[in-house]
Amino acid sequence: MNPINTVAVLTSGGDAPGMNAAVRAVVRTGIYNGLKVVGINKGYEGLLNGDIEEMQLRSVGDIIQRGGTVLQTARSNEFNTQAGLDKAMSMAKVFGIDALVVIGGDGSFRGAKDLSQLGMNVIGIPGTIDNDIACSEYTIGYDTAMNTVLDAIDKIRDTSYSHERCSVLEVMGRKAGWIAVNCGIAGGAEAIILPEKEFDIDKDIIMPIVDGRNRGKKHYLVIVAEGVGGAVDIAKYIEEKTEIITRATILGYIQRGGSPTITDRVMGSRFGASAIQCLVEGRKNKVVAVKNGQLIDIDITEALNMKKTIDNELVTLSKILAL
Ligand code: F6P
Repeated sequence: MNPINTVAVLTSGGDAPGMNAAVRAVVRTGIYNGLKVVGINKGYEGLLNGDIEEMQLRSVGDIIQRGGTVLQTARSNEFNTQAGLDKAMSMAKVFGIDALVVIGGDGSFRGAKDLSQLGMNVIGIPGTIDNDIACSEYTIGYDTAMNTVLDAIDKIRDTSYSHERCSVLEVMGRKAGWIAVNCGIAGGAEAIILPEKEFDIDKDIIMPIVDGRNRGKKHYLVIVAEGVGGAVDIAKYIEEKTEIITRATILGYIQRGGSPTITDRVMGSRFGASAIQCLVEGRKNKVVAVKNGQLIDIDITEALNMKKTIDNELVTLSKILAL
């Protein structure tokens, strides 16, 4: 007999386009499998405050195309204390929650793992634009964010071309360079500066620009990952050293918003369904993930101990293509 009757779902940490598709899939596949599904508003904060409501099939209508998260999200300090965790478990008991699906990043999964150690059955769904969750090749929101960045790059290139300038663009990703390296390749950057790789400003930025100029280039694009930062200072240095007028753009939160791409809608839907499948089949304390293009589930503690490294093939390719 399946001991799980009521499943709760929440979104936590930074929002990401496609989270709504995952919420919708959890609700609908949950109900399809005979479960009661409740939605927790504002992440763990909502669990502590009992901001919880039963979800029906229609509660998740008309949300798949929306960015952000209809459940809203928060970063809770109180939850990260023993008292907070105990209170969360009591609230879960009050609402009869047997299992909790957490859509978010590593920080959110750490909270879920803490709850699992107090007896809650938890399932994590990778949701962050950064693609920095080690156990999964894909995280919800990554594709939409990259398309937003690429759209910005194309626009910046237009003005960079017209004025024969250099543009330095800082993109999100926390400590990971996935958005930066892919968007740098897709946007034709002269240099891409990643947190995973040490860099020398003269060798890795000035040289490709000057060499490019000697080969006839007239405008230049440098992508700097957020984990390196300093786009404004880098732009000043480039201008001083090369006398090319250089402007910095820090793209910021625009990267987190917007209607999710088809990839994020489909991946959100698949992850959500897979989370419910785990629960229905009695698998506990898992993160659903993509490995070698296939959906898998992996123990949450193991998942949190894994490390993700940047794809060196992409880094090498970006340098060759910048010639
Ligand atoms: O994890 C997503 C992300 O947008 C990161 O790229 C960025 O470093 C961080 O969240 C910003 O967080 P906050 O919304 O708390 O400023």
